Amino acid sequence: MADTKKIAILPGDGIGPEVIAEAVKVLKKTEELFGYKFETESNLFGGIAIDEKGTPLPQETLEMCKRADAVLLGAVGGPKWDNNPKELRPETGLLGIRKALGLFSNIRPAVIFDCLKEASTLKPEVLEGTDLIVVRELTGGIYFGEKFRRDTDNGQEAVDTCVYNVKEVERIVHQAFQIARTRRKKLCSVDKANVLETSRLWRETVNRIAPEYPDVELEHVLVDNCAMQLLRRPSSFDVIVTENMFGDILSDEAAMLTGSIGMLSSASLGEGSFGLYEPVHGSAPDIAGQGIANPIATILSVALMFKLSFNYQEAGDVIENAVKNVLDAGHRTGDIAVDKSKAIGTTAMGDLIVAAMKR
Ligand code: IPM
Ligand code: MG
Repeated sequence: MADTKKIAILPGDGIGPEVIAEAVKVLKKTEELFGYKFETESNLFGGIAIDEKGTPLPQETLEMCKRADAVLLGAVGGPKWDNNPKELRPETGLLGIRKALGLFSNIRPAVIFDCLKEASTLKPEVLEGTDLIVVRELTGGIYFGEKFRRDTDNGQEAVDTCVYNVKEVERIVHQAFQIARTRRKKLCSVDKANVLETSRLWRETVNRIAPEYPDVELEHVLVDNCAMQLLRRPSSFDVIVTENMFGDILSDEAAMLTGSIGMLSSASLGEGSFGLYEPVHGSAPDIAGQGIANPIATILSVALMFKLSFNYQEAGDVIENAVKNVLDAGHRTGDIAVDKSKAIGTTAMGDLIVAAMKR
């Protein structure tokens, strides 16, 4: 009998609660199939927490996450809060939870699902074989550097500072090398070392660490060039490691290569096995409450949680195979359907996946 895993659930805003409900069904089915025990606790986070508690990340929610073995997040944000001051924005909660939980590494796989190739804006022959992971530094850089405004003779001036220390670079780079080792053993480190001092420190650090991983092939690519190469030769990338802001931009680009952002999961990790898992897509306020959102990215986030935080490899495979089988059988939610009139809803998709889960 396995020990009980505590999962903190943050449904969040928009379609968040709808997709989370399907992921919870998958947790229940996994308990039945494998005899695992999951104890779930849910709390307010994001816009809904602003509305009900006056802050996007209530202390109670943070405490719940700290008690857990892993966190499953739906999505946060929406137009309702877009014009709020910084402290009252859902994004501030997201940055706050990453920092408070020490989640310095964000892992976003971009995989082409064969049966969905037609959903991409890129030519199938360019995409063929694309299977890459962006490893993004998540708690440093310009996101967390000092920010302020001051008056000058030319009017107000705004300052964002980008800061990285060696330790912050080392820990993410080690993690990326280790991930590359489990895959095709290629690491692409992305920076802007021709211009930025933080990037020069980044590159020096990567080069100093590289000899510890002689089996991994390393390349350095400047960020502007990387943005271009991702469109030109996506299948040649295996693991991409980069700083916070570059990773934010490149991971969106990589996600869109697949044409199916509703399918992509992500993990944010710290030093141990603890992690926060969430779909790459946002809260999609335009379709919230209609029961048509694609729950697959959230369901695949559960698979990622099983593999990376709990070491439940087989259970993770069972979920991934169930998703594959349901897609192969032709079932589609509206976002990935070619014939929109045949699209199924969120609950129907969740039920089909649960039914397809077999050991
Ligand atoms: C992401 C998002 C966030 C980020 C925003 C919502 C603050 O774009 O998770 O990639 O920039 O990190
Ligand atoms: Mg982003």
